[in-house]
Amino acid sequence: MVKIAPSILSADFCDLDREIRRVSTADWLHVDVMDGMFVPNITIGVPVVASIRKHTDMFLDVHLMVEKPGRYVEAFAKAGADLLSVHLEADLPPAIHDALRAMEDNGVKKAIALRPITSAEAVLPYLEQGLDMVLVMTVEPGFGGQKFMTDQLSKIRAIRDYIDRYCPGCDLEVDGGVNLETARLVTEAGANVLVAGSAVYGAADPAAMIAALRG
Ligand code: DX5
Ligand code: ZN
Repeated sequence: MVKIAPSILSADFCDLDREIRRVSTADWLHVDVMDGMFVPNITIGVPVVASIRKHTDMFLDVHLMVEKPGRYVEAFAKAGADLLSVHLEADLPPAIHDALRAMEDNGVKKAIALRPITSAEAVLPYLEQGLDMVLVMTVEPGFGGQKFMTDQLSKIRAIRDYIDRYCPGCDLEVDGGVNLETARLVTEAGANVLVAGSAVYGAADPAAMIAALRG
């Protein structure tokens, strides 16, 4: 069963309560945290995640696009994140391993994220450590509403193969440019969690779009 995770990056931040209720039929809520260093954009941080937690029981899938993300694992866990994704490009490998251990210690699900430039093989040392999810970016991280990069499909297939071999049960999430057409491509390639920002929030009927993307 494919899970849909609408990204609130495409929501109206002035009325997040209403915006979250508009997508309440989705499986997860995707929260994009950007620091203006790892990516050329600044979005939201720990206090906003804590406020969102008070307004919804939805599973909070928090995507950390920040330098040295290990510094913030405990704070986001305490704020109510259910899962944290850290980018492999955001720190040295030992620090990424430490960040994943910190997630375990703080009772949140642990995931790694890959920029388009990063190869499928990069996930192997982390899959061996045990992961709850791998996030494959299909746009350059930083902004919603970009065009899907079809050259990432072979990477999704390769990572699906690694997951089945070394870490069965680990989710494979795709983020960036997901719409009705690309959703079919990525699920065929082996993704089982789809982030969708502009496709869901730009739809006249977000619930119908969520159902269509799931199908
Ligand atoms: C981009 C973010 C994405 C973004 C996706 O850096 O990580 O989650 O919100 O937006 P769409 O679905 O519009 O590409
Ligand atoms: Zn994201």
